[in-house]
Amino acid sequence: MEVSPGLSLLCVALLLFVSTLPPISLSACSSHDKEVLLRIKEDLGNPYVLASWLKDTDCCTDWYAVGCNSTNDRINLISIQYSNLSGEIPAAVGDLPYLQTIFFHKLPNLVGTIPETITALKFLQQLRITWTNITGTVPDFLSKIKSLNNINLSFNNLTGSIPSSLSELPDIRTIDLSRNKLTGSIPETFGSFEIQDFYIIWSHNQLSGPIPGSLGAQNFTKLDFSRNDLTGDASFLFGKNKGLQYIDLSRNNFSFDFSDVEFPSELYNLDLNHNKIYGTLPAGLTELSNLQNFNVSYNRLCGQIPTGGKLQSFDQYSYFHNKCLCGDPLPACQ
Ligand SMILES: *[C@@H]1O[C@H](CO)[C@@H](O)[C@H](O)[C@H]1NC(C)=O
Ligand SMILES: *[C@@H]1O[C@H](CO)[C@@H](O)[C@H](O)[C@H]1NC(C)=O
Ligand SMILES: *[C@@H]1O[C@H](CO)[C@@H](O)[C@H](O)[C@H]1NC(C)=O
Ligand SMILES: *[C@@H]1O[C@H](CO)[C@@H](O)[C@H](O)[C@H]1NC(C)=O
Ligand SMILES: *[C@@H]1O[C@H](CO)[C@@H](O)[C@H](O)[C@H]1NC(C)=O
Ligand SMILES: *[C@@H]1O[C@H](CO)[C@@H](O)[C@H](O)[C@H]1NC(C)=O
Ligand SMILES: *[C@@H]1O[C@H](CO)[C@@H](O)[C@H](O)[C@H]1NC(C)=O
Ligand SMILES: *[C@@H]1O[C@H](CO)[C@@H](O)[C@H](O)[C@H]1NC(C)=O
Repeated sequence: MEVSPGLSLLCVALLLFVSTLPPISLSACSSHDKEVLLRIKEDLGNPYVLASWLKDTDCCTDWYAVGCNSTNDRINLISIQYSNLSGEIPAAVGDLPYLQTIFFHKLPNLVGTIPETITALKFLQQLRITWTNITGTVPDFLSKIKSLNNINLSFNNLTGSIPSSLSELPDIRTIDLSRNKLTGSIPETFGSFEIQDFYIIWSHNQLSGPIPGSLGAQNFTKLDFSRNDLTGDASFLFGKNKGLQYIDLSRNNFSFDFSDVEFPSELYNLDLNHNKIYGTLPAGLTELSNLQNFNVSYNRLCGQIPTGGKLQSFDQYSYFHNKCLCGDPLPACQ
């Protein structure tokens, strides 16, 4: 094959030109994301946990505590854990437009509030900030991040009430706000939307008042309202046709008649201890073949403990301190 002198000259020129360029790395971390991350590192006081975040290395392959999407090489995960870094959550987190997961865990000196800049994150699915010292409220603006499916803000110092707007999140599956200092009542909006596999964990707060009846229409999988100051009826959370598997209402001030409550067959955790629940134990409890954890102690229940199913596999401490419960595993009825 003949190669024209013109073409070979062009080839040589091209080769010469290419060899003067800086080396091209294979995985090109977005220079925008790198710049933002370096700003975040600086805002957090250049902590040791981010020592691998260096200007001349690749943020997708060489940096700890971040992850990239292999499709577009953009940062999609920031996960900083177990560090004594101090300061506030940098507002610049909102400048990483492809973030899907924010995970800050066991950062005792992380303080301040959740920055509103994260509402710019159109792909954010998981917001998990746990075991830190952040304060302020569970922000109302979270409802603007429509992609969220998992909110976990447990073990912090959050105050104020639970924003009713969180129920507007179309893909939400888990809202864990346990172990904060939240007050106010449970928003009735949480009964008015359709979600499969819905987990609500709001234990260890100071929530008060009754559970809105609207929540009876919601098909929760897991509900944990334990250790609050909730009152009134909760029997409508149960029902034969629900998907409920786990419910913990312990250490509140619930007061309702338990006698006619019906249970979903998948229920494996039922904890009602320390309330003012009255009536008798329904015979339907004997049909729960998955029951692993059961506790109705410290209530005002009466009558004979139904015999059968798993009920006699629990010891007296699942039943004690009631008004007049009797029968195995408690002393025989008179
Ligand atoms: C990666 O990016 C593509 C295109 O933006 C998106 O469809 C996909 O969900 C992303 N995946 C992850 C794991 O970030
Ligand atoms: C943070 O931890 C590092 C190593 O774990 C330690 O050297 C440093 O003194 C600690 N800083 C503070 C402020 O506690
Ligand atoms: C919050 O800070 C206090 C003291 O400043 C510390 O004892 C506590 O462990 C921190 N909380 C968390 C969840 O890290
Ligand atoms: C968070 O709460 C803990 C325990 O109540 C307290 O020791 C700590 O000082 C609080 N932190 C802030 C930043 O308010
Ligand atoms: C929320 O985070 C805490 C602390 O990491 C964890 O123990 C808990 O299981 C999480 N909640 C859910 C529903 O995954
Ligand atoms: C229940 O209510 C009583 C008074 O009605 C109050 O003294 C008690 O602290 C409440 N208990 C809880 C766990 O909220
Ligand atoms: C609730 O969800 C379960 C599956 O999670 C389903 O089997 C059940 O039919 C649903 N019940 C209602 C009342 O929607
Ligand atoms: C049931 O709850 C009571 C009160 O908190 C507790 O003392 C008891 O150990 C619990 N029983 C079981 C089996 O967990």
